[in-house]
Amino acid sequence: MDELTDERTVPGTSLRATPVSIGTSFLGDPPQPDGTPAVAADALARAMLAGPFAVIDTSNNYARGRSETVLGVAVRREGLPPGKTIVTKVDADPATGALDRDRVWRSFEESVGRLGIDRLPLLHLHDPYTVDVEEAFAPGGAVQGLTELREQGLVGALGIAAGPVSLMRRYAESGAFQVLLTHNRYTLVDRRAEELIDLAVDRGIGVFNAAPFGGGILAGSGETYAYRQASPELLAWVARARELCGRWDVPLQAVALRFSLRHPGIASTIVGVGRPERLAQLTRLQATAIPEEFWPELAALGTPPSTLED
Ligand SMILES: NC(=O)c1ccc[n+]([C@@H]2O[C@H](COP(=O)([O-])OP(=O)(O)OC[C@H]3O[C@@H](n4cnc5c(N)ncnc54)[C@H](OP(=O)(O)O)[C@@H]3O)[C@@H](O)[C@H]2O)c1
Repeated sequence: MDELTDERTVPGTSLRATPVSIGTSFLGDPPQPDGTPAVAADALARAMLAGPFAVIDTSNNYARGRSETVLGVAVRREGLPPGKTIVTKVDADPATGALDRDRVWRSFEESVGRLGIDRLPLLHLHDPYTVDVEEAFAPGGAVQGLTELREQGLVGALGIAAGPVSLMRRYAESGAFQVLLTHNRYTLVDRRAEELIDLAVDRGIGVFNAAPFGGGILAGSGETYAYRQASPELLAWVARARELCGRWDVPLQAVALRFSLRHPGIASTIVGVGRPERLAQLTRLQATAIPEEFWPELAALGTPPSTLED
């Protein structure tokens, strides 16, 4: 199998994924100040469904539900193309922060209603920060709701999708989840999810690695990393990496993507896409040749400074 291009089954699931999956956290956001019309979101959703990437990652709360809504409109109109999967996530109640068994069921029902899909091959518990881990696993807690959905055949596999590695480890070690989704923690400038990914691989848990560009900075967009202002040290490291890439004639963005794609334990890397042309760009980035001799030179730049605590 070619680790960089071939479809694979995500461990712990029957889900087929391409090495790159598509992220939709801003899909359906209101029109931009430049007047970009809402119809742009529909065109983007259609392009995502027609594109070469098998998994589209959304969530109950992305763009306050509009991400799922826009995807659902496209699915109802054109059907879900063969080989395509939409993966969504359960979110806390936006008004109260409740994230218990009943909220999990409501979140699931909202999602399938918007998406127009009855059964979800994978459903993540998303950013469970309003409850502690004990509460999530207690009777009547979120994990009970997820387990019921799985037992009733409404959901194929359960995932945990969140940031802090210590929290992720506790969920991953519970045995209740078949998949984990980590973000911004296995990138060119942050490696703190490395042991978490190893743990998942040892346990047969499938791994999605999201945000290989740190939300944009490693793709040449903005000065934030993981949605916070990047430190001067981080900006300086990125400038040095870009200069090195210039000497090798490879785009930093291609290097950032390949860094995730070449990890054998990562089933798929989720890249956020905010406009249709990004899909073709991604295919080109994926195919960019990066000589093996480049990587030791990159390593010689030293440990990149992280902006995250956990
Ligand atoms: N807790 C969780 O479950 C969680 C957390 C984080 C992320 N995720 C998932 O992972 C996905 C990816 O994360 P992310 O979107 O935050 O980060 P990302 O994939 O690291 O970065 C995406 C950003 O890079 C920009 N970009 C891509 N190609 C570019 C180019 N050629 N030039 C300039 N900018 C470029 C995109 O801009 P455009 O918008 O202009 O295309 C987008 O804003 C999310 O959409 C979501 O589905 C999940």
